[in-house]
Amino acid sequence: MTEKIIVIDEGTTSTRAMLFSVDGTPLGSAQREFRQHYPAPGLVEHDAAEIWTATLACTRAMIDKAGGAGAIAAIGITNQRETVVFWDRATGEPLAPAIVWQDRRTAADCARLKAEGHEPAVQAASGLLLDPYFSGSKIGWALRNWPQLAEVGDRLAVGTVESYLVHRLTGGVHVSDATNASRTLLMDINGASGWDAGLCDLLGVPMSLLPEITGCTTTVGTTMPDLLGGAIPICGMAGDQQAATIGQACLSPGQTKATFGTGAFILSASGTTRPQSDNRLLATILAQEGDVRSYALEGSVFVAGSLIKWLRDGLGLLANAGESEGLARSVDDNGGAYLVPALAGLGAPHWRPDALAALSGLSFASNKAHIARAALEAQAYQAHDLKTAFAADGVDWSELRIDGGMAANDWMAQDLADMLDLTVERPEFVESTALGAAMLAATGAGLYPDLASATKAMRGRTTRFTPALAPEKRKARLAGWQSALAKVLG
Ligand code: G3P
Repeated sequence: MTEKIIVIDEGTTSTRAMLFSVDGTPLGSAQREFRQHYPAPGLVEHDAAEIWTATLACTRAMIDKAGGAGAIAAIGITNQRETVVFWDRATGEPLAPAIVWQDRRTAADCARLKAEGHEPAVQAASGLLLDPYFSGSKIGWALRNWPQLAEVGDRLAVGTVESYLVHRLTGGVHVSDATNASRTLLMDINGASGWDAGLCDLLGVPMSLLPEITGCTTTVGTTMPDLLGGAIPICGMAGDQQAATIGQACLSPGQTKATFGTGAFILSASGTTRPQSDNRLLATILAQEGDVRSYALEGSVFVAGSLIKWLRDGLGLLANAGESEGLARSVDDNGGAYLVPALAGLGAPHWRPDALAALSGLSFASNKAHIARAALEAQAYQAHDLKTAFAADGVDWSELRIDGGMAANDWMAQDLADMLDLTVERPEFVESTALGAAMLAATGAGLYPDLASATKAMRGRTTRFTPALAPEKRKARLAGWQSALAKVLG
């Protein structure tokens, strides 16, 4: 039976390969963390060679688990999105560090372009805003500052992480799926367009370096037989947030998911009409099946699970991430403490790359349980601010589907329901990102006639959390958050 699917889920802090059966049942998983490089405040880099080695090891482990390459119908790939890799087309070796989506080295470049009045045209074409988060300004910066990129001439290839992995897996195919391409600031997302000459010019990126844009269920190539023991088709690709939206079966306009991974990303499906935001949200491609594109409205919060990781690794406040739930429950309230987690600036709806995190409202009565609780509460406050922005853009959420490692925290799931005053639904299998990529790959391999059928067949059971907080308490907490946030925004 060649009906198993392998998904490569290449996230910000770890790479994972997962094995799925055709009905969406997870059969196994292998995961490896890789190093985060912080060469200076605001700079975040990865070693793409390390990512590749980890990816290959995890994928091989899942091939073994499946009983060999012959058991695998397809490989799907999903990835941290805006991170850019620079490599040599001839060898596949990286030529420079990968610049991570959290990196803010181009904040001044983006501010200048904004001051020059470019943002409305950029937003109209790309659906995005002038912020260092997106790939385009990072690529322009690298080409200006890293001479080794010019030294290899036309052997230089640039792409997001799925693009790099496809190159390595196939031995040279240079493609990017439309969802990842839509995060670069270099693509016109309207209609059937592709890379945009005006945007590439504005950001100093020669179009010849960029991959060909493909659909999300297109077979882009097969794996080199000597790598994985067989020529397996790669036919499901999407950026991790789009994949999670698909994994949560949010395909109809208005259906909304929030993924709590390194950051928290909320996407509402918009159907085949490109959304327009007047409230600093993003328009992005949700999927492309064949030539048909669907869109989503997105609110990107940069810090979610990474806050808990920082409390654990940076401050030594937690022994493990799971401890945060018990600590939050151990106190009656936040004791007046609010944590605005602007550790990588602030994303939507503020877009303030210069903002710095703040912990306020402390007294001698405060202890680490209050801080852990403030960190978890911050997730609901940030989601609340996005709910307001989405509603102002005409997208009123009727419920919120949550996923990602952090969503397994029952206290946080209930707090989201309470603060959003909304039913929150959580699948039993919270790795919706990987499941969504499996749905794309299963569709690409012809195991389902279309993505909608795959989502129906493959999404598992869910649990619901309903709001239970008194309105005056919600109001008081939101007021506390707004005043802490106002201090950070200045
Ligand atoms: O846009 C950044 C996003 O793709 C990162 O995802 O899963 O690492 O939070 P994650």
